[in-house]
Amino acid sequence: MKVKPEELKQLMMKKFMGAGMREEHASKMADILVWSDYKGIHSHGAVRVEYYTERIAKGGINVNPRFSFDRTGPCTGMFEGDNGCGYVAASLAMEHAIELAKENGVGIVGVRNISHSGSIGYYAEMAAKESMVSINMCQSDPMVVPFGGTEAFYGTNPIAFGAPTADERIVIFDMATTVQAWGKILVARSRKEPIPDTWAVDEHGEPTTDSMKVNALVPIAGAKGYGLMMMVDVLAGIMLGVPFGKHVSSMYEDLSKGRCLGHVHMVFDPSRFVPMEQFKQNMSQVLDELSEVRPAKGFDKVYYPGERGQLRRKRYEENGGIEIVDEIYQYLIGEKLHFDRYDHKNKFAE
Ligand code: NAI
Repeated sequence: MKVKPEELKQLMMKKFMGAGMREEHASKMADILVWSDYKGIHSHGAVRVEYYTERIAKGGINVNPRFSFDRTGPCTGMFEGDNGCGYVAASLAMEHAIELAKENGVGIVGVRNISHSGSIGYYAEMAAKESMVSINMCQSDPMVVPFGGTEAFYGTNPIAFGAPTADERIVIFDMATTVQAWGKILVARSRKEPIPDTWAVDEHGEPTTDSMKVNALVPIAGAKGYGLMMMVDVLAGIMLGVPFGKHVSSMYEDLSKGRCLGHVHMVFDPSRFVPMEQFKQNMSQVLDELSEVRPAKGFDKVYYPGERGQLRRKRYEENGGIEIVDEIYQYLIGEKLHFDRYDHKNKFAE
């Protein structure tokens, strides 16, 4: 089903506002979800609307948050999210981080007590559009074994890096620190398909190909991914004074409670190190040179991080809309706000 971005945004906003969210918050949240679908990151687009709507309706996302920003030093600040919409809080916090970086060369802003903030490459793109380089991280629900362990401890704790170039290209390297997302396990379960033995472990911490036996995901590259997800939890959790490690709340466990998640933006002004023009020209040069690398067997070319998302967006624009699963579209145009499907009290939701 092809849907025009503006229609998709309006449909999303109708659900969020129907559940009680105010218009400006619903609009920003919908903008970022449409951005994700546009880039082909469908795991963080329209597919999430029903879950968020249920959470808003049940009180797990504060619709009247008292957002506040406390500048704690020349380059640092803390944004209080009051368990309001994570997308809105993280966007506003990024605006502060960009301002600090423009003023002092570096801007680091912690965002505490928020709900899910979605595909975090969006915030890296915000900074890059202002000629800034950034690193962004956030916590997510514990569903990953620490390297060598049998029990879930850390989340899929994503990291997004962004950088501008001298042209319209933007580098957005945006990844979960797990081999695969939980959503991929759910897809395999629904299709009764096996999974590769590199994705997840069973209750004994042993690799499994049986999607029904999955007890936790695994970090990317063993001990190295485990170290990265710990780093995210220190910077976006312990350093911000929010629940950390295995105490981070789960997405589906109690939809009536705020999630108290942490998120951090680190923004750098490259012109404090080299002239801006030189930085941007060299960024463009490196992307050109990467694209000239001879592709390996099975690859059509070497892409820079974020390039495939930009190409998908272009394709959707040319083809007159974003491809959305029919079932999701039917939900979006329907009158019912949600079907009470997500409040599982179970962190490994089906
Ligand atoms: P992915 O595995 O699809 O992509 C990771 C990175 O690799 C991207 O920057 C992509 O541009 C790059 N890439 C992929 N294929 C490439 C290729 N052939 N050549 C060059 N670069 C390539 O992403 P993943 O790990 O599945 O994450 C998806 C989204 O989920 C992200 O937007 C992330 O922020 C979000 N997420 C959000 C969480 C949250 O709690 N807020 C938790 C976990 C993930």
